[in-house]
Amino acid sequence: MKPKIGIIGDGNVGSALKRGLERAKYEVKNVGHNPKGVQETAAWGEAVILAVPFAALDDTLREMGKAAEGKPLIDVTNVLTPDYQLALGCTTSGAEELQKKVPSAKVIKAFNTAFAGHMDTGRVRNEAITFFAAGDDGEAKATVLQLGRDIGFDAVDAGPLRNARWLETLGYFHILLGYNLKMGTDIEFKLIR
Ligand SMILES: NC(=O)c1ccc[n+]([C@@H]2O[C@H](COP(=O)([O-])OP(=O)(O)OC[C@H]3O[C@@H](n4cnc5c(N)ncnc54)[C@H](OP(=O)(O)O)[C@@H]3O)[C@@H](O)[C@H]2O)c1
Repeated sequence: MKPKIGIIGDGNVGSALKRGLERAKYEVKNVGHNPKGVQETAAWGEAVILAVPFAALDDTLREMGKAAEGKPLIDVTNVLTPDYQLALGCTTSGAEELQKKVPSAKVIKAFNTAFAGHMDTGRVRNEAITFFAAGDDGEAKATVLQLGRDIGFDAVDAGPLRNARWLETLGYFHILLGYNLKMGTDIEFKLIR
């Protein structure tokens, strides 16, 4: 049985994941910056995706209230300062800090190492992109790995939530490659194994 997916954020990432999941026959709702809608969408979803800017997470959590309790809470954020530096170092991660703020949700870090332009298919240049999911709840992580597979990604279990530190630094490196080193956004990671 496919879970209903509530996506907070209807920008590049939120809308791409919605398209990909709907194509894979998931029931999906997403919402932009609308406090009542955020609470309703999170309450409706059986899993919730946070596709808002890192700086908007605290507002979003306040708006969601208890709506994500007990559910997979998928953190797609790249943990950036307003001037596009990595906001947290290697001794913690945005996802671990998020888990401390919502202890009863099952936080999974996922999808942040891909560009939004490919999130509706999980593919670039005719190849499946590897996406990584890190989290401490095995069942919630299996749900997220399946979501990604259903969209078309190559899914890799990246271990416990503390490994989000490396997914967030990898996401930052991806941005550096794409923008600072001018490789563009048609580049993605693939784990050969
Ligand atoms: N773009 C990428 O390639 C990419 C790749 C991987 C990860 N990410 C991460 O994914 C997240 C979303 O990126 P994006 O490119 O989709 O950004 P975006 O296009 O700017 O969309 C951001 C979304 O968040 C909503 N939002 C902003 N402040 C909010 C708040 N306080 N409460 C609730 N919603 C709020 C916005 O709503 P309104 O428009 O109504 O304000 C919008 O729907 C970011 O954390 C980013 O780092 C992005």
